[in-house]
Amino acid sequence: MANIRFFSGKTTPIEMHRVRIIQKLNLRPIEERLEAVKQAGNNTFLLKNDDVFLDMLTDSGVNAMSNDQLAAMSQADDSYAGSATFYRLEKALQHVFDMKYFLPAHQGRACEHILAKAFIKKGQLVPMNYHFTTAKAHITEVGGKILEIPVKEAFEITSTCPFKGNLDVDALKAAIAKHGKEGIAFVRMEAGTNLIGGQPFSLQNLQEVSAVCRSHGIPLVHDVSLLSDNLHFCKQREAACKNMTIHEIAKAMAAASDILYFSGRKLGFARGGGMCTNSKDHYMFLRLFIPLFEGFLTYGGMSVREMEAMAVGMYETLDEDVISQGPQFIEFMTNELVKLNIPVVTPPGGLGCHLNAREFLSHLKPNEYPAGSLASAVYLISGVRGMERGTLSEQRNEDGSEPIAHMELLRLALPRRVFTMSQIVYAVDRINWLYQNRHLVGGLKWLDEPKILRFFYGTLEPIGDWQQKLVAKFKADLGDSL
Ligand code: F0G
Repeated sequence: MANIRFFSGKTTPIEMHRVRIIQKLNLRPIEERLEAVKQAGNNTFLLKNDDVFLDMLTDSGVNAMSNDQLAAMSQADDSYAGSATFYRLEKALQHVFDMKYFLPAHQGRACEHILAKAFIKKGQLVPMNYHFTTAKAHITEVGGKILEIPVKEAFEITSTCPFKGNLDVDALKAAIAKHGKEGIAFVRMEAGTNLIGGQPFSLQNLQEVSAVCRSHGIPLVHDVSLLSDNLHFCKQREAACKNMTIHEIAKAMAAASDILYFSGRKLGFARGGGMCTNSKDHYMFLRLFIPLFEGFLTYGGMSVREMEAMAVGMYETLDEDVISQGPQFIEFMTNELVKLNIPVVTPPGGLGCHLNAREFLSHLKPNEYPAGSLASAVYLISGVRGMERGTLSEQRNEDGSEPIAHMELLRLALPRRVFTMSQIVYAVDRINWLYQNRHLVGGLKWLDEPKILRFFYGTLEPIGDWQQKLVAKFKADLGDSL
């Protein structure tokens, strides 16, 4: 991280890059945003991007590419088999993780699909620090069950715990004692734990989990989609990592894992995915599934142009100036909101800034979907698109009952290298206005609820006319401002 101190004493994160290609944005008047959110069934996934001002839905596939990545794309070799592009990407991953084997897949969930099919027998458990939506869906689809055993701080919205993504090692030992090696398909660790606010685990915790797994012969599968943030936090927050390079931390993490898999839409600033391992047995077994579900072994469903960009992006991930930009902007945004007493997840994590909807809209009942309502309201009053990460993002239990999420969050993702400081300041300003007027925000109810991954396509409607009231108050306070 660049060491730049301000004469004024302020702590302002600085972009260590300049913007050379831009995309024009639209900020529609609030009446048009009201119509757009209605058309989208109050589901921010269903908004058209032309109607969005700042797209903070996700950091997936929308990170800005560097000039080196763009340049590399032009050398893509689109041979179906034996593509030189594949060997460049394989070499980059071997370098970053010091692992022998790489299997390409079209994105992260494709790896989850293959890992679930390959390793899970009906009824087996997958202990993990915390689930991710698609990982859970694939595990349960093949008859497996997830067992979430994070440390207790994981669910404390405001905390000083630097590693809320840690797994409770004693709980893992107890699970193994109870279910035996045969009852456990694999252990899954997720770097930069997505659904609890992009929270990291420590290298030490991963190593402890690894030692337990290895002593019982249970594979440790490590989801490294959000690794770049986790690497930054280990370097910043973990004494043992302070004098290690980012590359050394990455290699130590890989050495503790049996299989790495990733969404290349996050890791590597491009689009795609894949799995890495040092085990020839795992490689040979997992390899069987690639041509069946993904594509030939030297592209795995990815565009070769993206693979070229990803290879360069993997090297860039080892540069602290590159990977610190996201977490530093998130920290800035989180701190600005904290100053305004707006409830957010602390300490700031990676991926994005997370509003605590359960407290922001404390007058709403859990089944009125506070985080979904907040997502809808934030878009309506600002054109900022976030993502519900709460009860709507859960799947119903087998008996049809609805689990209430551990956390009810609105995630405002900051895709890497995309937004400028004034855009963050704008988002903070509008969220502050909404917080002052939060009593006007009501709940949502289902119009159409899909059976699988319902948050992607489901549509909802507001309970009552709270959105019209919010528009009227916005106009009373801000006049004809967009
Ligand atoms: N694992 C993690 C930790 C993720 O965050 C994601 C995707 C996946 C796996 C699946 O990867 O999208 O390439 O298939 N997260 C996105 C998000 C969708 O918005 O957080 P994918």
